[in-house]
Amino acid sequence: MERRASRRARPTAGVAGRAAARRGARPAPFAVRDGRSAHRARPATRRPRQERPRDPCTRRAPAGASVSATLDPATSARRTPRRAAPGAGARGEAQLVSLFSGAGGLDVGLERAGWSTTVATDVDADCVRTLCAAQRAALPVRGRTSHRHLQGARLLLQDVRTLSAADLRPERARADWRPDLLAGGPPCQPWSSAGHQRGLEDPRGQLLAHMLRLVGELRPRFVLFENVRGLVTALGPTGRPGEVLESIQADLAALGYASRVATLNAADYGAAQRRVRLLLLASAEYELPEFPAPTHARLPSGPQGLPFGPEVKPWVTLGETLDALPAPEEAEVVRPAGPRAAALEALEPGQGLRTGGRVEANRPGGHWGYRQDSFLADPSLPSRTIRAASTPDWVRESDGRLRRLTVRECAVLQGFPADWPLQGGAASRFRQVGNAVQVDVAQALGEVLLQSLRRGPAAVPPVSPPWPAQLLRRTRYTAMEHRVNGAHRVRVRAAGQAGASGATSPAVEA
Ligand SMILES: C[S@@+](CC[C@H](N)C(=O)[O-])C[C@H]1O[C@@H](n2cnc3c(N)ncnc32)[C@H](O)[C@@H]1O
Repeated sequence: MERRASRRARPTAGVAGRAAARRGARPAPFAVRDGRSAHRARPATRRPRQERPRDPCTRRAPAGASVSATLDPATSARRTPRRAAPGAGARGEAQLVSLFSGAGGLDVGLERAGWSTTVATDVDADCVRTLCAAQRAALPVRGRTSHRHLQGARLLLQDVRTLSAADLRPERARADWRPDLLAGGPPCQPWSSAGHQRGLEDPRGQLLAHMLRLVGELRPRFVLFENVRGLVTALGPTGRPGEVLESIQADLAALGYASRVATLNAADYGAAQRRVRLLLLASAEYELPEFPAPTHARLPSGPQGLPFGPEVKPWVTLGETLDALPAPEEAEVVRPAGPRAAALEALEPGQGLRTGGRVEANRPGGHWGYRQDSFLADPSLPSRTIRAASTPDWVRESDGRLRRLTVRECAVLQGFPADWPLQGGAASRFRQVGNAVQVDVAQALGEVLLQSLRRGPAAVPPVSPPWPAQLLRRTRYTAMEHRVNGAHRVRVRAAGQAGASGATSPAVEA
C-alpha cells in the first residue's frame, strides 16, 4: 500500500530476543504478597544460573562474524573486564541503574535532570548497539555543559532474568553499594492497547518480577517504573482490573518501599506528542515526591480553566516541530501507493481509515475498527502516540502530497537529541523509538526525584498515597466494560480474528 522512495530497508531479525527465548530462561512467578516486612522479604523470583554479563561496547567482531553474532547474549560465555566509570559517582553525582534501557529515552531524560547512568542494560542487540554508539559519540547533555550522555556507563547486553546486584555495581564498589535510582520500563506489550492484553499470562509480563527482585537485591534509594496505561486496568489472577498494579505496589511494600502512581501525558510536559503512560515512584526512606506539575496544556485554556501564563504554556504542536526540522532526505520518504492510496489522500487531518467496524480483541473498550497504520496527523495538535511500528502517521506536505513521519522525526517527537545514533534496520529503529520513554516526561520526573534525594532521608518512612481518582475511575469503567463485552472478546480472540478487514471509510481521531 505504500512505496518507500529508497531501497527497502531490511527488517531486523531480532537475533538477540530469539536467542534469549531459545535459552529458555525460566519465567518468574508473579507474586502477590501482603505487606509484611520488607527487608526480610525473600525475593519471589530466583535468577537462573547464567554466565556473567559483559560489556558489548568493548567487543570486536572476529573476522568474518557479523556484529549481531558477537552481540548475541546466548553466545556470551566470558565476562569482559569492567572499564572504570570515570563519570558515574566520581563527582558525587546521583547514580542511576537503568534496566530495560532500550534506545535510552529514559536515560536521556534522567541525565538531563542531573542523574548519571552507571549501568544500562537490555537484551536486544540493536538497542545496546545504539547505547554504545551514543556513548562513543559523547553527545552533550542539554543543560549540563560538562556532561556527555552515558559517560562512563557500563552497557550490558544481558537478559534481566540473569542479572544480579553484583552485576550492576560499579567497578570497585563495595558489596553494600546502593544506586540512588533504579529505573526501567519492562516490555509493555502484555498490557498495551496495541497488543492483545494477555497481561500476566504473557511471559514478558513476568519480567516485572525480576525488576522487583533487583530492587530487593540492590535496595536503591528510589525506584522509577514506567509502563503503558493499560497496566492500570490490567486484569490480575482473579480477573479484577487494577489487580496487577496493586500487586506491584504490594510487592514493593513487602520490600519496605512506599509508592505513588499516576498517568502522565507527555504533551503536558512540553512534548509535541500525546502519549499517556503509567508512572510509579517508590522509596523506602525518602519523601515520595509529588508528580511534576504540567508545564503545558491543551488550547484554549490551561489546566482547571486557568489562563496560560509563564507557568503553563499551550501544547507544542506537531506542525511547529516539523517546521523546525530539516526536510527529510528523499530516501527516507514513504508515500502512499496501492489500492488504499486514494482513500488516504482524501483524509482530513485527524482522520484515519476504518477497518469496517469489526470488533478488535485488543482494546479494553472493543476497538471498533480504527487502522493504526492509516491516520493523517493533525499538525495543529501534538502528534498521536508514536508506536513501535514502522507505519507511523501520515503528514500532508505543503504541496499537498502525503508521506509518513520518518524515524528521525518520530525520535525527535520522543524527545531524543536529533543526532541520537539509532542502530539497526528500519523496523528495529522504529521499534526502539516507539518503545522509548518520552524524554521530556523522564526529565520532569528526574527533577522531582533529584530534589527529594537532595533533601535527604525523611524523618518518618514514606507512606503510599491512594490512587488518584482518575485511575480509580478507569478501573471501575474497565470492570463494567469487561462485564458487558468480555465474553464476546474472548470468543473473537479464540477465533483468531483480530486482523483488519481493509475497508476504508474515514474515522475521526479518537
Ligand atoms: C519499553 S522498552 C524500554 C524503553 C527504554 N526505557 C527507553 O526509554 O528507551 C522495553 C525494553 O526491554 C527490553 N527487554 C525485553 N525483554 C528483556 C529481558 N528479558 N531482559 C532485558 N531487557 C529486555 C526490550 O529489548 C526493550 O528495549
